[in-house]
Amino acid sequence: METKQKTQFEKNLACLEKLGQTHILKYWDELNPAQKKHLQRQIEALDCGLLQMLTGMATGKGEPLSESLTIEPGDVISLADREKSDAAALPPGEQALRRGEVAVFLVAGGQGTRLDISGPKGKFPITPLKNKSLFQLHAEKIRATARKYQTVIPWYIMTSIYNHEETVAFFKENGFFGLNEADVRFFSQDMLPTFDKEGKILLSAKNSLALSPNGHGGSVKALWDSGAINDMKDRGIRYIFYFQVDNVLAVICDPFFIGYHILAGAEMSNKVVRKVNPQDKVGVVCKINGRDGVVEYSDLSEQDMYARSADGELKYWAGSIAIHVLNVDFIERENREGFKLPYHKAVKKIPFIDNSGVLLHPAEKNGIKFETFVFDLLQHTQKTCTVEVERQKEFSAVKNKSGFESPATARKDLLRYYASLLNQAGVTVEVDEQGYPLFDMEISPLFALNAQDIKEKINTLPEIRAGVYLK
Ligand code: UD1
Repeated sequence: METKQKTQFEKNLACLEKLGQTHILKYWDELNPAQKKHLQRQIEALDCGLLQMLTGMATGKGEPLSESLTIEPGDVISLADREKSDAAALPPGEQALRRGEVAVFLVAGGQGTRLDISGPKGKFPITPLKNKSLFQLHAEKIRATARKYQTVIPWYIMTSIYNHEETVAFFKENGFFGLNEADVRFFSQDMLPTFDKEGKILLSAKNSLALSPNGHGGSVKALWDSGAINDMKDRGIRYIFYFQVDNVLAVICDPFFIGYHILAGAEMSNKVVRKVNPQDKVGVVCKINGRDGVVEYSDLSEQDMYARSADGELKYWAGSIAIHVLNVDFIERENREGFKLPYHKAVKKIPFIDNSGVLLHPAEKNGIKFETFVFDLLQHTQKTCTVEVERQKEFSAVKNKSGFESPATARKDLLRYYASLLNQAGVTVEVDEQGYPLFDMEISPLFALNAQDIKEKINTLPEIRAGVYLK
C-alpha cells in the first residue's frame, strides 16, 4: 500500500517537474509530517494528463464560445404547444413515479460566493414565514410527491469537500426533514487545481493547493464513482430528476416534464423559461453545430444575445433553468466511455499565498478556475427534449446577496406563487398589479403541491390572512 502510494506521488512529482509546477513544494521542508501528508495526498490525486491540458488552457486566450461555433435556435415544446400535449404527457410521467422509477438528484457542491455565505447554500433560510431552509423546502416537496404517488423517491445530493460534512450534519440535526435516512445519499464531487494568469498552480496554504470544485458537470462522474448509479439500478430507477439547490420554485419530479421526456424517447431533457431581457443570466438552449446544447450566458456573443427573429422576439429566448431529466443508462454509458465533458475557464478572485507564504484575499480577479457543465452532456445524447415552463411558477433562484435573484426576490416569488395557487383554487387572495399578495403567509408543500391539492381541502381552509401557515 505504502509503496504504491509513493509510486503515484513520485510519478506526479515528475509530472509537476515537466510542467514547471514544482513551486508548490516550495515550503515542503518547513512542513510537519501531518502537513506533508496533506499536500502529498493532494499531489497524488492530480491527474497528470488533465493538469497538462489545464495548464495550457490557463495561459491560452478565451473568446466567447458562440463566436467559434455555429448556433441556431433549438426545438422547444412551448407553452402554446403544451396546451394541446400536456394531457398526453401526464400519464407516462405519473406512471414512472408510481412505479418508483424516478430519483431526485440535487447538485449542491457550489460555494455560494455571490451570496457571500460560507458553508452549504442549502442551509440558507428562505421561506417567508417559517424561514425554512432551501434543503427543508426541497425535502418537503420530495416527501409530498412520494406520498402522492405512494412510492419511494430516493434523493441523491452532491456536495464538495467545502460543504460535505456540514451538509450531512444539517440533515442529521434535522431528522432528515422527515425523509427516510436510507433514501438520502450524499457524495462529493472532484476538485481541480486553480491557476494564476501565468498558468502556475495556486496554493491556499503552505501545505495545500487552492482547489475548486470541478463544476456541476463533475456530477456525471461523481454519480458513477460514488456508486450512486449502481444503487439506482438496484432500486429500479430509470430516470434522474436533476435540479440546483438555489431554485425555490423548482417543481421537483414534475410529472409533465418526466412524461414529455419519456414520450420523446430522450436521454436528457431540459426545462426553459422565456428570457426576460437579452442580458438575463441564463444559459440558452439551442443547437450547437447542429446538435442540441446550451450556450452559457457568459459565452454568448453580443450579436447572438441581442438577435431578434422576424416576430421581434429574442432569437435565443429559451433560457435554461438547469432542471433536467437524465436516463440512468445514459449516465452509465457516458462513464463507461470515460468522462469527457469539456472544461470551461473562468477568471475569478482566488485567495492564495504569496511568495512569503502569507494568505491574500485579492480585490481583483487574479486567477483561473476550471469547471465542467452538466448541460454539455446534451451534445453526447442521441435524443433530447426541451419543455417551456412559466417563470413565475417554476423559477426563482437565490444567487445574489441583494437585488436581482436574491433571498428577497425569492421570498416574494414564493408569496406570489402561494397566492396564485389559492386564487386558482377559487380562494380570493388580494394581490398587487404584479401578482404579489399584500401580506406574508406560507403554504407547506406537504399541504399542497398545486391548486388541485388546495381544492381538495377547501372545506378545511382557515381564513387566509396575514401570518397564515397552511401545513
Ligand atoms: C446556472 C447555469 C445557467 C442557468 C442558471 C439557472 C451554469 C454554469 N450555469 O448558472 O445556465 O441558466 O444556473 O439558475 O451552471 N454546483 C455544484 N458544483 C460546482 C458548481 C456548481 O454543485 O462545482 C451547483 C451549485 O451548488 C448550484 C448550481 O450548481 O446548485 C449552479 O451553479 P452556479 O455556478 O451558481 O451557476 P449559475 O451561474 O447560477
